[in-house]
Amino acid sequence: MARVIDITLNGRSRVDAVEDNLLLLDYLREKVGLTGTKTGCDGGECGACTVLVDDAPRLSCLTLAAAVDGRRVDTVESLAHDGRLSAVQRGFHEKLGSQCGYCTPGFIMASAGLLRRNPHPSEADIRAALGSNICRCTGYVKIIEAVKFAAELAAAGASP
Ligand code: FES
Ligand code: FES
Repeated sequence: MARVIDITLNGRSRVDAVEDNLLLLDYLREKVGLTGTKTGCDGGECGACTVLVDDAPRLSCLTLAAAVDGRRVDTVESLAHDGRLSAVQRGFHEKLGSQCGYCTPGFIMASAGLLRRNPHPSEADIRAALGSNICRCTGYVKIIEAVKFAAELAAAGASP
C-alpha cells in the first residue's frame, strides 16, 4: 500500500507518495536523488546511512519513509550553504577525518546532531555520539580531532 508523506527535507517542504515498506534510505537515494547518504551494511551496524530526524541521528536503513511523515529530515546535502562548508564538514576536511570517505556522511551527520544538541561536547560525549558509526580507514583519532575542531568553529559562530 502507498501513503502520502509530507516532510521538511533539507529545509524544504516535500510531499511524496511512498510504499509502506519503503526505507528512508531508499527514499532519499532513489526517489529524491540525494545520494550523499550511503548504504553500508544495510542492517543497522555501520552508521553510513545516518541522517537527522528532528535533529536526532537516525539510521535510515532501519527507518521507514512513512515513519518520518510530518518530521524534519536533514541529510549531508543540507549542511553547506553558498559553497561554504559547515563547521563539521570543515573539521573533517581540515583535520583529515576522512580517507576513502564512504563512512564520512554518516559520521558528519552524527556529529552535526551532537553539536546541535550539545555545543560543547567532551571527548567522551563525542565518542559516545559516534559509537554507532564504523570507519575502516582512519583509526578514529582524526575523526575525534575533527569533531573537536568543529565544536570550536561552532562556538565561534559557524553553523554545525
Ligand atoms: S547502512 Fe545503515 S547502519 Fe549500515
Ligand atoms: S574513511 Fe574509509 S571507511 Fe571511513
